[in-house]
Formats: sequence, structure tokens, C-alpha cells
Amino acid sequence: MPAKVYSDKDADLSVLKNKTLAILGFGSQGHAHALNLKDSGLNVIIGLYEGSKSIPVAQEKGFEVVRTAEAVRRADVIMVAIPDTKQPAAYDKDIAPNLTKGKALLFSHGFSIHFKTIIPAKNVDVILVAPKGPGHIVRRQYAEGKGVPALIAVYQNPSKQAKKIALAWAKGIGGTRAGVIETTFKEETETDLFGEQTVLCGGVTALILAGYETLVEAGYQPEMAYFECLHELKLIVDLINEAGVSGMRFSVSETAKWGDVSVGPKIIDASVKKRMKAALKDVQSGKFAKGWVQEYQGGYKKYQALLKAGEKHPIEQVGTRLRSLMPWMKKHSVKGVQAAY
Ligand SMILES: NC(=O)c1ccc[n+]([C@@H]2O[C@H](COP(=O)([O-])OP(=O)(O)OC[C@H]3O[C@@H](n4cnc5c(N)ncnc54)[C@H](OP(=O)(O)O)[C@@H]3O)[C@@H](O)[C@H]2O)c1
Ligand SMILES: [Mg+2]
Repeated sequence: MPAKVYSDKDADLSVLKNKTLAILGFGSQGHAHALNLKDSGLNVIIGLYEGSKSIPVAQEKGFEVVRTAEAVRRADVIMVAIPDTKQPAAYDKDIAPNLTKGKALLFSHGFSIHFKTIIPAKNVDVILVAPKGPGHIVRRQYAEGKGVPALIAVYQNPSKQAKKIALAWAKGIGGTRAGVIETTFKEETETDLFGEQTVLCGGVTALILAGYETLVEAGYQPEMAYFECLHELKLIVDLINEAGVSGMRFSVSETAKWGDVSVGPKIIDASVKKRMKAALKDVQSGKFAKGWVQEYQGGYKKYQALLKAGEKHPIEQVGTRLRSLMPWMKKHSVKGVQAAY
């Protein structure tokens, strides 16, 4: 049976009226949920730790910012918008001691609950509202009158209101404008990790770099390689996003279509799928989560080194120069988007 897709008419924002909503963290997800909920007419406060660099950012957007523990004390619904690896310490120190009966704890990714790095108190609702998109796009689309599709899940429900709260929250951030599906913490966590590793973030960036390097190493101009393998990707993906794979094929030339169907599957072949299955297994078994928590505990050394190496790739210099020639990119640049809204 196809999954039920909830829309605006299935969600009642009044469930959250007269309640205090606390967002702990004001980063990618936190700022988007906070601003969208505020614009939906709800009462939002921000919880941050002493000295957080996000404090002035949230204050500048007109939010009341209090310490994490106080935000938990004052709120009825508490969203944990802190990085996954840092959530357990914040839970033990600031959240758990103030999480009294009847409150609801809300996540936008199921990592901590599913992998049990947080064992929540039994007398609170534990819910998930996970937009299927990066935080800055969740904000941008809401401001444009659109919405990013979202998932909801209920892990525990002592109030018997958990699903209503999750649906109302999803409506408040614009998710029900696009469509909301109910899932479980397990399914959301495993599919989200698999997707970001193998297709969305990991897979697509590795594909771009491999294509760029192949062209540059063969003597083509780096600017050509950038336009071909990075810039144009969005234009093609927009078509796929709007009309599906076959819809995209409708727009490209016959020659492109033939190259697509005859060469593509030789590049992304059965060996890729085999490695995808291995990556999925590591997600399901908890091996990936364990390694990531260890990486955090060891001070993020490998993580930082790999990110730095990525920043040094020649495609970044070429891209910075070419994007600076397209003024509309600046208006929408993700790094500047918090300031823009
Ligand atoms: N990024 C996304 O688009 C996305 C998409 C779906 C789900 N999620 C989920 O959303 C959650 C948050 O991720 P994110 O990417 O939004 O994080 P992020 O951009 O790194 O922002 C984290 C925020 O938490 C603050 N913070 C750190 N420790 C804190 C503490 N102890 N108490 C209060 N605030 C604290 C940080 O403050 P500082 O500025 O001082 O560091 C920052 O404002 C994660 O569960 C993630 O899996 C994210
Ligand atoms: Mg994720």
C-alpha cells in the first residue's frame, strides 16, 4: 500500500499555540525551524551554551536566547538541534535534569535515539520531524512560500498527543506544504545515513571530482571542467527533481539521452551497488555510528583533515572565481543565507 502523505489540512497548528517551543542550537536546522515556526505565529525561544558563537546570530534575528538548561525548563516542546555527536553530553548536563513529565523532546534526525547514545526519560514524548533537505533550504523554501518534504516519527507517546505535535511542527516549518510521511526512528536514521553517504553528499561529490579530474588531467581547461561537471549538475538535477528521470530525458538531446542510457550504467555499475550494500550494512549494524562517535571522542582529527583537503581541491578555486561572476549566486549563497533572512 502506498504511504499516506500528510498535507496542510491534516495538521493543526493550534496544538502548538500557547506553548513555548525551545530550539537548542541555532545552526543549519535550528535556525530554519526557529525562523519558520516564528513566522507561523508560534512562540519560540533559543537555548545555547555560554559563549556559543550562535548567540549573536539568533539575537540578531529577534529571538530570546537563554542557556540550554533554562530553555528546557521553560519549554513544552524542546527541539534538539545540536550536532548528533554532541547531543549526549548536552542531554546529561542540561536537558535531562530539566525534562519534567509531559514535555516533548523533538529531533530532526534519529541518530541519538536509534543508536541509544541518549536513553530518554519515559515520561516525555519523543518525536521526530526531519525535513528531507538541508536547513538553509528549509528556510529559503519556506520564505518563498514553498516547503521541503518532511518525515515524522513517534518513539514514545505518554501524552497521546505526540503525533499531533509532530504534524503541527511539520506544518509550522512548511513541511506539510510539500508532503509529510510517517516513519520510525530506525527507518529515518538508516535511510538518512545511507543516502547522505552514498548518493547525496558522498556519492555526488566523489562523482563531480572524478569527472572534473578526468577532464583536467586530459588537458581540458579547468573552467570548462567546472561548468561541465559541477555547475550544470544542478540544472540537470532540477529537471530530475521536477519531472523524474524520464522527464529530464525529455529535455536533453537525443545524443545526450543515448550517452546517458548506454554509458552511464557502465560508470555507475554493479560494483558501485555492491559497495552501497556494504555501506548500508555498516549503517544497519551500528558500525558507522560507533566509528563516528569514536572520531568525535578522538577530537575529530581525521574528519577535520579530510574536510581541509576537500577545501584545497583546485575545483574550489575555479568555482569561487566563476561563481563570483554570477551575481544571483551571491544573493542565494548558503553561507550568506542566514544574514539574508
Ligand atoms: N544540517 C542539516 O541540514 C540537517 C538536516 C537534517 C537533520 N539534521 C540534524 O539536525 C541536528 C543539528 O544539526 P545541524 O547540522 O543543524 O548542526 P549545526 O549546523 O552544526 O549547528 C549546531 C548548533 O548547536 C549549537 N550547540 C552545540 N552544542 C550545544 C549545546 N550543548 N547546547 C546548545 N547548543 C549547542 C551550536 O552552537 P555553536 O555555533 O556555538 O557551535 C550550533 O548553533 C542533527 O541532529 C542533524 O543530524 C541536520
Ligand atoms: Mg543526515
